[in-house]
Amino acid sequence: MAQNRRQKKLSGSMRCSDCVLLLCKSSVQEYLARSAPSSLHYLPAMSPVATEVFKTPPANTLRRLEKAGIDISQGYPYWPNKPEFVQDVEKLQTNLREYVDPGTRADPEKKALFGAAKKVTDLSIHIGTEIVGLQLSELNDKQKDELALLVAERSVVFFRDQELSPQAQRDLGVYLGDGEIEIHPQVAQVPSVPGVTLIWGEVNGRQARTFRTAYPSGNYGWHTDLVHLAYPPGYTHLHQDTVPENGGDTLWASGYSAYDKFSPTFRKILDGLNGIYKSAHPYKDVNDPSAPPRHVHTVHPLVRTHPVTKFKTVFANRALMVGIEGLDQAESDAILNHIHDVYERSTDIQVRWKWTPGTSAIWDNRSTIHTVSFDYEGKGERHGTRVSSLAETPFFDPESKSRRETLGLDD
Ligand SMILES: [Fe+2]
Repeated sequence: MAQNRRQKKLSGSMRCSDCVLLLCKSSVQEYLARSAPSSLHYLPAMSPVATEVFKTPPANTLRRLEKAGIDISQGYPYWPNKPEFVQDVEKLQTNLREYVDPGTRADPEKKALFGAAKKVTDLSIHIGTEIVGLQLSELNDKQKDELALLVAERSVVFFRDQELSPQAQRDLGVYLGDGEIEIHPQVAQVPSVPGVTLIWGEVNGRQARTFRTAYPSGNYGWHTDLVHLAYPPGYTHLHQDTVPENGGDTLWASGYSAYDKFSPTFRKILDGLNGIYKSAHPYKDVNDPSAPPRHVHTVHPLVRTHPVTKFKTVFANRALMVGIEGLDQAESDAILNHIHDVYERSTDIQVRWKWTPGTSAIWDNRSTIHTVSFDYEGKGERHGTRVSSLAETPFFDPESKSRRETLGLDD
């Protein structure tokens, strides 16, 4: 089925003479002969499927995959079988679990992590830290626990110049996810490394976006990943192996700080409310298969408590929310629009990151929204791999405090 789907998706692009990105096998062999080291072993001498179609990864990506021993002879990327029905997706997370966040057992001073780093720099007051001089693939467990704590506190942490295989990225994600990462049921992934998904315009359907796409919405705008899951991702790790020379920055905003920007009275209104969240993709309803596809809906606290920092964070994003449970749509829209506006427009609680090839960003998906600046149209490729470490089922502890309350800065 996956094979059929790939062929169906690409069936209009079988003309290798006029297509750079979508190539048949003979074209890939030609391309690799021109641009890749001779030791590469992507393609078998004989193909079991004569019409197999490939997308050719960018050169940096090819080198990374080769170094990691990833075999893409059966195609790149790997497409899992897409679930057909809403009910299939809802069944994917029924084993609710006790999640122990590695950050809860970390040394608060993070001596093992900071002691091994050459430099640690906070990028703004509210969010973002860069660490220089460490390889993520070489961290010991103590350092990983401290990294989790740092990400929980600073919301996003960056590491440039990483030598990181998809497998090592997956392993770090499994550790941070207390044994579980998201194995996405339908998006493009690295072959043979389930759970390492691709952030690559060539497969994410973003070719239609242009400069004239004003204030992108939906998945193109500010969002939090996979909020429809029963226990959505916490630590999320994007490694960019190929980036344009200029453009394609990613921005994050702090949910701790967005919450702190609300008046004490408004915070009291929000505390204890539940949001209704939706999946990025629609699916058919098994009870009414001919109806238009619909999204999976899941209820979570609108303000959630972070299990490591114990801070309250607003858990809202414009792209993947339906409303607030129990409110009329107009009431819900009024409240959510204000939350989104504060969260998205307050530049003092945001960080903007300029990528270089081989950079990792690990963010806390529970307490942030993020978006990309799509300003690189036609000016270079952008390919990354993402691992989403699953976290706890979101909860709200009425005894928890905001970050500024905890720090005695409430005003
Ligand atoms: Fe995302």
